[in-house]
Amino acid sequence: MTSRLIYMDHGATTPLREEALEAMMPFLKGQYGNPSSLHAPGREVRNAVEEAREKTARALSAQPEEIYFTAGGTEANNLALRGAAKIRNGSGHIITSSVEHHAVLDVCKDLEKEGYEVTYVPVDQYGKVNPETLKNAIKDDTFLISVMAANNEIGTMQPVQEIGRLARENNILFHTDAVQVVGQLPVDVQEMNVDFLSLSAHKFNGPKGIGALYVRRGIKIAPLYQGGGQERKLRPGTENVPGIIGLGRALELATEEIPGKKKHLESLRDRLIKGLLGIGDVILNGHPDERLPGNVNVSFKYIEGESVLLSLDMEGIAASSGSACSSGSLEPSHVLSAIGLEHSEAHGSVRFSLGRGNTEADVETVLEKAPPIVERLRNMSPTYHRSQ
Ligand SMILES: Cc1ncc(COP(=O)(O)O)c(C=O)c1O
Repeated sequence: MTSRLIYMDHGATTPLREEALEAMMPFLKGQYGNPSSLHAPGREVRNAVEEAREKTARALSAQPEEIYFTAGGTEANNLALRGAAKIRNGSGHIITSSVEHHAVLDVCKDLEKEGYEVTYVPVDQYGKVNPETLKNAIKDDTFLISVMAANNEIGTMQPVQEIGRLARENNILFHTDAVQVVGQLPVDVQEMNVDFLSLSAHKFNGPKGIGALYVRRGIKIAPLYQGGGQERKLRPGTENVPGIIGLGRALELATEEIPGKKKHLESLRDRLIKGLLGIGDVILNGHPDERLPGNVNVSFKYIEGESVLLSLDMEGIAASSGSACSSGSLEPSHVLSAIGLEHSEAHGSVRFSLGRGNTEADVETVLEKAPPIVERLRNMSPTYHRSQ
């Protein structure tokens, strides 16, 4: 990547920060011991892993023994949902929302095939779940609710605390996919009333392929794999030591930086939203205020988000398109459909996700480059001409 790149796709992934890489290096080189080994090199690595677990727990106001390292957010979500379902032996009801990440939605669809019943509660025009709707969906055999802390596409925050209270009052387990929130906003598993919480290191400038699931003490779920005794038998397999160390260091730093970073990103976000809406015939997707500090998702009417994206890419600006899912299908994303966007509006969606390293100058460059791109594409668009 050249130094001229303006990277605004932090919702997809973030660059590994220098301090995390430095912390990882000894474990990629000299310190190769297996943390399960009883000898000195093994014990040293075990201590480092446990230190990373403590840092992770501290960032969530959890206890170290409530943290289970996984291979990322996808695995953490699978472990929570499938692990909680498995001990019910094929029966019972789950509630989730229609805007979850595929790592929750597709697990739910799979669990339906195995005999579980799933309710997908709708969201409002901003992508928010109404706790009252969720309450009405509760049945006698509901054993699990899974609602994400914030949406990866449109940035909308969910009323997690309230949903958690509801779940607790009804003796139902509550999982939140907090992959987009951990490291960006303060997270406290006590205040949030959650029983399970998923996080992923590559979203907060840590390494890829490593994440964690918080499991409240005393709650029993079944492992998805069988093998060794690692992660208290819930996630067997020799630990990804460098990944775990990188996660711990990145999360420790991200958590310290939250107050300043949040303010900075919110100000960049609001400036970018204002400037993009000023182009005209541009819709803001997601909640106007209750959204991730770095998330900007807009639909440029009459044109394709992919075309905007490719033109921005040619200018050295990396963003992402919200209109098609990762399979490359022509169907608009389930999130944009769930908030009621027309097909054409959904197809014009572009997500800019700001993060560490983005500056005011980056935003101004985007606001300088975007209007002529939109104008050029609209000039070639039959639907634009028909609308005029
Ligand atoms: C909300 C959400 N959940 C889960 C995931 C999956 O995380 P991972 O890439 O670590 O498997 C992502 C990643 O895009 C996400 O945004």
